[in-house]
This record gives sequence, structure tokens and C-alpha cells, in this order.
Amino acid sequence: GSTIETKRDFEGIESKFSLRTAHEPDEDICYLVPGQDDTLARCNFNHTSKTFVVIHGWTVTGMYESWVPKLVDALYKREPDSNVIVVDWLSRAQQHYPVSAAYTKLVGKDVARFIDWMEEQFSYPLDNLHLLGYSLGAHAAGIAGSLTKNKINRITGLDPAGPNFEYAEATTRLSPDDADFVDVLHTYTRGSPDRSIGIQKPVGHIDIYPNGGGFQPGCNLGEALRLIAEKGLGDVDQLVKCSHERSIHLFIDSLLYKDKTNVAYRCNAKETFEKGLCLSCRKNRCNNLGYTVNKVRAKRNTKMYLKTRSQMPYKVFHYQVKIHFFGKANVTKTNQPFLVSLYGTASESKNIALVLPEISTNKTSSFLVYTEVNIGDLLMLTLQWEKESIFSWSDWWTSYTFDIQRVRVKAGETQKKMVFCSRDGISYLRKGKEAAVFVKCMEKPKKRGPGGGGEKSCEKTSSQHHESA
Ligand SMILES: *[C@@H]1O[C@H](CO)[C@@H](O)[C@H](O)[C@H]1NC(C)=O
Ligand SMILES: *[C@@H]1O[C@H](CO)[C@@H](O)[C@H](O)[C@H]1NC(C)=O
Ligand SMILES: *[C@@H]1O[C@H](CO)[C@@H](O)[C@H](O)[C@H]1NC(C)=O
Repeated sequence: GSTIETKRDFEGIESKFSLRTAHEPDEDICYLVPGQDDTLARCNFNHTSKTFVVIHGWTVTGMYESWVPKLVDALYKREPDSNVIVVDWLSRAQQHYPVSAAYTKLVGKDVARFIDWMEEQFSYPLDNLHLLGYSLGAHAAGIAGSLTKNKINRITGLDPAGPNFEYAEATTRLSPDDADFVDVLHTYTRGSPDRSIGIQKPVGHIDIYPNGGGFQPGCNLGEALRLIAEKGLGDVDQLVKCSHERSIHLFIDSLLYKDKTNVAYRCNAKETFEKGLCLSCRKNRCNNLGYTVNKVRAKRNTKMYLKTRSQMPYKVFHYQVKIHFFGKANVTKTNQPFLVSLYGTASESKNIALVLPEISTNKTSSFLVYTEVNIGDLLMLTLQWEKESIFSWSDWWTSYTFDIQRVRVKAGETQKKMVFCSRDGISYLRKGKEAAVFVKCMEKPKKRGPGGGGEKSCEKTSSQHHESA
């Protein structure tokens, strides 16, 4: 009869499903066993709550990595009544990488059968199901989603593994078809596509590339050496995977810091994002990173970008700064160092260093500035053109000067647009000299100073962009 059939159905499932608890997030106390219906009651599975299924990746040590209990703990902190299940496929995950990578198929199949069992036996609604897979685990989650009888609600891919998957067909890796909504964080996509630890191409409905997706702040060698000096060699393993694992910590951040939600912005390329040109939230162009993402499904993949701090909470505040450089002589300078200071109603952020790829006479430059502190509404900003650290004869003989009348600023987080005017009608920006100061344009600014001839009068611009708040 059906029991024998059912038994056969569940034969060969090697993955284990540990229902963790909020009290002991790091202990495997109780396993849900597909086909053994009593295990749900025994493990205190809550049928009316959400369920998170966490799938780990490749492991050198054959043990869970330290992020597992951290993620379990954060999930329970945010959703105390939920069920957090950790899939244990450690024995298959500690093989030679290509062997473990191939095992994601079997792990995905195991997870799919587990989910089908929950749905068939207990009518557990798949709308309540959220899979979170890290590295190889992201692809296992994708395969699971493609094999379940009905679609699961959400899969979050945390830096899905790149090697063996970058060029793989959609059926064998994470893809948008695998769940009602698939969101992906790419945090360590360095090098040529076949060598990158994290997959480079977008594989979900929304693909977020924090800090460009290549490498994460705080994960550089200097930082590594500082940490080794502080904490000893024990955590070297952690440092090697720092950028890869950042995907998990960004998600944890979204669970723990409700009021510090990171916002990511749609952009065609990270170079465009660096120019500050993508800070729009119109038509779903921006979205929350992590747990509270809005389920926006575009027809094509959506790549999104943001900057972050090097530590939790990761949130920063993004600004687009746009400046027209007037000048009498035709000058084009590349890779120029600048210091920007922002003064706001709540706080200030001084001497933010940035390098402008190119500034040219009578051209407008747009660039991205971001601050770790919330300065509130911007009231004033200063711009200083620094001397290069290397002595240059051309700088010695020539003194470059640009005239700046206005600075346009757009704040990503508030979507506010502001215009700042030179206090004296015009500011002279000289390399290696003092900073130019820009304040909120007054209702009726003075007439423009000499050398002017801007595209719009200051009056017009200031009333157009006058803040409503
Ligand atoms: C199960 O979760 C619901 C919320 O989804 C909660 O109200 C209820 O108390 C939970 N049951 C148990 C036994 O914890
Ligand atoms: C830049 O524009 C200003 C005003 O439009 C003009 O006076 C100046 O000669 C221009 N500079 C160059 C180098 O063409
Ligand atoms: C600067 O360059 C532009 C275009 O390259 C040219 O039209 C203009 O006459 C130049 N101005 C001066 C002052 O050399």
C-alpha cells in the first residue's frame, strides 16, 4: 500500500533537516525526517508559522561554519514564531569542489522531496516557505525550487557559487524560475568569470551587487593583518572568505536593524553607479536589500548597486553631486583627488576622499558621495581639490582654476534634490588651495559674478529645486 510507496519515495535522502531553536541556535537537537510524520510534532514544528530553510555551501572542514548559528539566531530574533531549518549536507559538501558542486543536484532533490512531503502530508502552505542558500547551497536551493510540485514563495541566494555554474544551464543552477521570487546578493565576484568565487551574472529577479559586487570593504589584506594581530590566526579561514560570507552578514543585518535598511539602486553598470547617476527610486528603481525586499519582478534581470560600511550596521547614505566646471582655458584633467565635506541638520561628514576620473572645462561632472553617518538634511558642502602626493612639474608651473556657481545634490535615501550656491556668486576651485564653500541657494540670490554665463540663472534653478520640506 501507500506506506511502502511512501517509504520508497523517501529512500536515499541523505540530507538531514534540523529544526533549530531560538534557545540553542547552534545545536542540532531535533531532525524532521521526511516520511516520519511524528517528527514534526516531536520537534515542535509550528504549522501556522513561516519556515526558513538554510542551506550551507562547500566546507573544507566538514563542519558548519560560524555564520550558521548567527543566521539562525537573527531569523528567530526577527520572527520568533518561525521554524528555522538547517539542511545538513556536510558529508557531500566536504568533497573535492567539483564533486560537491555536482552533489547540489542530489541535495536539491532531497530538499524538494522534504518540501513536497510537508505540503502533501500537512498541507503546509508553500507561501510560508523561504529558502536561503549560501554559495553552493544557493544552487541546491534553486534545484529544490525547480523540482517541488508547487512553487515555493522565495529563494534568497547568498553569493551563489561561481565555479562550474557561471556558464551552466538555468536548470542546474539558481534561476528566477525556481521560486515565486528570487533575490540574490553578489559579494565576491572577482576575476574572470570562470575563476570568480561568486557567480557574476544575474540569476534572480533582483540581483544586488554591494560595493560593485567584486570585493567588500574591510576584507582587504591590511584589515586581515590587523585582525590577525588582534585575534590570532584562528580566524584566517574567515578572512579568506570575508567577501564571500559578507552576503550572509548583509542579510543578517537586514533582519536585525529594522530601522537601518539598506537601499539598493537599479543601474546598468557599476561605473554608472559610481557617477551617482542611478539614485532614483521611481518605478521600482530602488529596493530594500535583504529580508524586507519588495517582490518586484521585471521581465529581465535587474542589477542593483549600493555602497556599504565595512561592519554591521552596513548602511550608508548616498548622494549624487553634480558640478559644472567653468573655465577660461581648455583643460582636461584625469583622476583628480578631491575632498568633500557635508554639513547637515543632524550631523556632518568631513573630508570624504574621492577621485574624479575626469574634469574638463565647461563640462558637467557627476559623482557619487556617501557617508556612514546620517547627516540629516544637507545644509552646506565644501569641495577641495587636492594636490597629488607625487610631485608634478606641470602642477608646479600651471595653476588650474575652475569657476563653480552651483552644486546640485540628490540624496538617494530621501530622494530629495537640492541646489547649493556659491556664497559669493562664484567660487574658484584651485588645485592644492583652500576648499570652495557652497550653501543653500537663497530665495533671491545676488546676481552672478564675473565669468558667468551659466545655462540657467541662479534664481530659476533655486526656485525650481526649492525644497518642499
Ligand atoms: C505558532 O505561531 C503562531 C504565529 O504564527 C503563534 O501565534 C503561536 O503561538 C505559535 N504556536 C506555538 C505553539 O508556539
Ligand atoms: C566656457 O564657457 C564660458 C561661458 O559660456 C566662456 O566664457 C568660456 O570662454 C568658455 N571656455 C572655453 C575654454 O571655451
Ligand atoms: C576650447 O575647446 C572648444 C572645443 O574643443 C573650442 O570650441 C573652444 O574654442 C576652445 N576654447 C579656447 C579658449 O581655446
